[in-house]
Amino acid sequence: MMSSQRIAIFASGKGSNAESIINYFENNDSIEVGLIISNNSKAGVLNLAERKGIDSKVIDKDFFYKSEKIVQLLNYYKIDYIILAGFLWLLPSYLISEFENHILNIHPALLPKYGGKGMFGQHVHRAVYDNNEEESGITIHLVNENYDEGKILFQDSCAIEEEDTPDDIGEKVLRLEHFHYPRIIEDFINGHQ
Ligand code: GRF
Repeated sequence: MMSSQRIAIFASGKGSNAESIINYFENNDSIEVGLIISNNSKAGVLNLAERKGIDSKVIDKDFFYKSEKIVQLLNYYKIDYIILAGFLWLLPSYLISEFENHILNIHPALLPKYGGKGMFGQHVHRAVYDNNEEESGITIHLVNENYDEGKILFQDSCAIEEEDTPDDIGEKVLRLEHFHYPRIIEDFINGHQ
């Protein structure tokens, strides 16, 4: 029996994507969530980890950037893939090379538009709204040294109606995230991507 592929989820906020991923893999025999990492001790994702009985670790900048402790921690937990789900720090290059082509991220817009530093959460939806875009959507991509520039694995879009506010756009996009991210992770890990 092939051993499970283990994923670590990195999140900074509410963790709604982390929750959809954890729920999706809850009864999966070949892929499991082994660890939750956050840079925010108040992140909702930590309560979720506790509720689901998944180990979690809050990291600070020294831990993440001044040492390779994060790599040692991930290796200790036998992590094979890193899944970014609303993680706001840029990954250090040593972590990206240690997990080359094994780090996925979801961005709440149709890259390459509305990407890059500072483009996260409501900033993205506000920019899409201000530019009167007719659609927005999600991009799931591999992570490299530059924000939001890795190989695109999947995109899906949603129409923006005349009366939509930036919050409405955010809600439509978040629904796409929850619907697609877990399956795209599974397809990628199973080599279908
Ligand atoms: C999502 O909008 C995702 O696209 C972005 O960060 C947000 C995470 O939200 N990367 P949540 O913490 O998963 O609810």
